[in-house]
Amino acid sequence: MTTDNAKINSYDTAEELFSSCAREVTAYIKDCISKRGKCSIVLAGGSTPEQLYQNLSTASAAEQPDWTACQFYFGDERWVPHDHADSNYAMAMRVLFSHIDIPEENIHPIPTHCQTADECAADYETGIRHIDKFDLVLLGIGTDGHTASLFPGTTILDVTDKRVAAVFVDKLNTWRISLTYRSLNSARRVMILVQGKSKASIIKKVMQSDNQQNYPVSRLSPSGDLIWCMDSAALSLIEP
Ligand code: 6PG
Repeated sequence: MTTDNAKINSYDTAEELFSSCAREVTAYIKDCISKRGKCSIVLAGGSTPEQLYQNLSTASAAEQPDWTACQFYFGDERWVPHDHADSNYAMAMRVLFSHIDIPEENIHPIPTHCQTADECAADYETGIRHIDKFDLVLLGIGTDGHTASLFPGTTILDVTDKRVAAVFVDKLNTWRISLTYRSLNSARRVMILVQGKSKASIIKKVMQSDNQQNYPVSRLSPSGDLIWCMDSAALSLIEP
């Protein structure tokens, strides 16, 4: 991915970032529903998106989309039970799903109960087979440039024949299950949420260094829109 084909939305504060992104996500979901009668949304994990999900769930009824026309998926999941504190599904349930009118059958967590992570990845791949392209993919970025569970130096970066894969992340000493580039790059819209000074260094490297391809997030090249949503703290090392 080069930043030439990406749109960057910058916001002065974290509050503005999350409130504006909530409005933009809601408007986009409504547009998808009006065009195709439905909207498939892939949620990001980690801590950054929590405030966005809270904003989505606490908007007024008039502002909220018809959640019953939405199908929710996950960009990646940790190899833990769904009631574990580290589970991306548990976070989304806590701050979003338990506060909106969404049928349980419209929520598609990545399974983590199989004997192996590979089995669970294969199950999820089967579960998304009917989806040609996701309407919206939300992502974050780690300080090492990973996104979803596409970590630097891991085998999943080179997976091209699958849309979901398991990956052992040495630095975390744990398995992860993640959508692959094949899934992420086929999305109609990808939004990458970046907040805070802790991400300023990796944003500078990703946006302004010559060896951009060294960072997994830089290898995203969606066929649809790619929108970076960042606050000024995350952009604080970017030279004008
Ligand atoms: C995860 C996410 C991961 C996350 C980054 C940033 O499961 O952790 O999918 O890719 O987006 O690690 O995490 P923070 O938002 O917590 O900084």
